[in-house]
Amino acid sequence: MFSKKKQTSTIDKDQLELIENAQKRIKQKKRLYIHFVVFLIGAIFLIIANTVLGIGKDFTIAGINWFVYAILAWLFLFLYHFINVFITNKFMGKDWEKQQLDKLVTKQEQRIDKLKNNFLKEETKIAQTQAYNEAKAISTSDKKKATELTIIVAAGERNAIGKDNDLIWHLSDDLKRFKKLTNGHHIIMGRKTFESFPKPLPNRTHIVITRQSDYQVPEGVIVVNSFADALDAAHKDDNPFIIGGGEIYKQAMALADKLEITRVHATFEDADTFFPEIDSSKWKEVNRTTHDADDKHAHAFSFITYEKK
Ligand SMILES: NC(=O)c1ccc[n+]([C@@H]2O[C@H](COP(=O)([O-])OP(=O)(O)OC[C@H]3O[C@@H](n4cnc5c(N)ncnc54)[C@H](OP(=O)(O)O)[C@@H]3O)[C@@H](O)[C@H]2O)c1
Repeated sequence: MFSKKKQTSTIDKDQLELIENAQKRIKQKKRLYIHFVVFLIGAIFLIIANTVLGIGKDFTIAGINWFVYAILAWLFLFLYHFINVFITNKFMGKDWEKQQLDKLVTKQEQRIDKLKNNFLKEETKIAQTQAYNEAKAISTSDKKKATELTIIVAAGERNAIGKDNDLIWHLSDDLKRFKKLTNGHHIIMGRKTFESFPKPLPNRTHIVITRQSDYQVPEGVIVVNSFADALDAAHKDDNPFIIGGGEIYKQAMALADKLEITRVHATFEDADTFFPEIDSSKWKEVNRTTHDADDKHAHAFSFITYEKK
């Protein structure tokens, strides 16, 4: 209560920089002006020294008195000084440097975006290959491959499926269909998707994939440490479902026999999780029903079934 109020500067860093820059420019221009005056006086002095006082009167180059060359040389120096102040410093000053830097940063950002896209594509391929190899090893050694492995997902027009570890929409008829299709089956999911549920879904066997060795789950939920172990844990089910999220879908695409897609007819720019592209050379659409937007559904959507070719 009684402490002295601390003095704080009201001028922020940017303002200080601007003031310093302006002071620097004033000094540069002042020096140029002094140079100009000295040059004028000097030139007059050189002329008087030669013509009136007779200093070096006999010294000429190509018939021209030496003071002309001296004045020209000085004029050249003065012009150099002038260019420095009004051209070089103006164009290569702080603003110019900032503009160049901004341009460079934009270019680098574009390159990073391009690399990121390529990386995502590569990552999907690698994940699919790894999962495929692991599962193939199991199916050939143990003959335990499930009868039909189905991926079930709701995805926007650009394959958006989630944001901040949650869904982006609420479509009650889609949830009903999900419940109907997966009822009584094993549902395989990544740890993050599992954590997005308030509690395990009734009447389904949850298989949660995580790399953590001591991941704790409620009773009845199965924890595995690889995608192949998840398939192994579901081997008694003739139709286990892969229910997400993005990381698990990528790994499952090469192994799944069927896709149950709810295509939500809208784009969701701020999504952070995506479903992989559906390669039409590998998948054929076998069924489609459409659902308009209504009071309970903010977006129109279609249930589309694909089978592997
Ligand atoms: N629209 C839909 O239909 C739908 C469906 C499901 C989910 N989603 C959305 O998708 C988002 C979650 O997806 P996500 O990609 O972030 O996470 P995710 O796929 O649900 O889970 C990723 C986690 O799974 C584990 N994991 C992945 N591959 C593994 C492997 N080969 N071996 C062992 N563990 C592995 C890792 O867990 P650890 O980090 O513990 O090791 C990893 O962090 C959420 O926004 C959710 O709402 C949408």
